[in-house]
Amino acid sequence: MSNTIKIQNLTKSYNFGKNKIEVLKGINTELPLGKLITLMGPSGSGKSTLMHILSGIDRPESGSVFLRDEEVSAYSEAKITDYRRNKIGIIFQFFNLMPYLSSVENVSLPLYLAGKGKKEAHELAQESLSLVGLSERFTHKPYELSGGEQQRVAIARSIVNSPEIIFADEPTGNLDTENSNRIMELLVNLQKERGFTIIMVTHNAEIGEMGDVRLKMKDGRLV
Ligand SMILES: Nc1ncnc2c1ncn2[C@@H]1O[C@H](COP(=O)(O)OP(=O)(O)OP(=O)(O)O)[C@@H](O)[C@H]1O
Ligand SMILES: [Mg+2]
Repeated sequence: MSNTIKIQNLTKSYNFGKNKIEVLKGINTELPLGKLITLMGPSGSGKSTLMHILSGIDRPESGSVFLRDEEVSAYSEAKITDYRRNKIGIIFQFFNLMPYLSSVENVSLPLYLAGKGKKEAHELAQESLSLVGLSERFTHKPYELSGGEQQRVAIARSIVNSPEIIFADEPTGNLDTENSNRIMELLVNLQKERGFTIIMVTHNAEIGEMGDVRLKMKDGRLV
C-alpha cells in the first residue's frame, strides 16, 4: 500500500458560453502523507480548482485521484460525502463561519454532521479552540472576534474531527503579516504534533518555502 495521494492525468475544463476553458491540463504527481505540502502559482493557474477536486467538492473531467491506492475520484456521492465529513478538513480564505453562532457552535458543526451529540461535540470543540489559543473566546460570535481570531476558529473547526488531510486555500490571505505568521506557525506545529497532511495554497514565498514538498503551478500544469 502506498502512503500517498496520487494524482494521475487530471484534467478539468469549464464551458464558458461557446468557449471551453481548460483549467487543469493534465496533473501528475504523487504526494507523501503526513507532510506539509505547499502549492504556489500565479492567479488563475488552477490552484483552487485542484484543491476543490482533491477535497471532493468538485469532480475531475478526466484522470484520477488515489488516497492510499483507493480511487477517491471514483467514489459514489455517499462515499464522497463521508470522505468530506470524516477524512478531511477544509480552511478557505474567507472563513465561512456562521455569523449567528458562537465559536463553540461553529466548531461543533462538523461533529453534528458526523452524528455526535451536543455534549460531546461541545467538549471536543472547546478542546480544539483551546489548542488554537481561544479558550477565552468560546461564546463569542464571529463579529465579536478579530480577523486572526476568526481564522483560528476556522482552523479549530477544520481539525476538530481529527481529519487525515487538511486543505488550506490561502488560509492567511487576508491577514496582516504578524497574524499571518502566527496562523502559519500554528498550522505547522499542529501538523508536526498530530502528523496529519496539510496541502496549502499560498502566494507568500516564505510560507511556500516551508513545505516539505513544494509544488508550483503554471497555466494548469505542475512545473
Ligand atoms: N466554476 C467555474 N466556471 C468557469 N470558470 C472557472 C470556474 N472556476 C474557475 N474557473 C476559471 O478557472 C481558472 C482557474 O481558477 P482557480 O480558481 O483555480 O485559480 P487559482 O490558481 O486558485 O487563482 P487565485 O490565485 O487567484 O486564487 C480561472 O481562469 C477561472 O476563471
Ligand atoms: Mg484560488
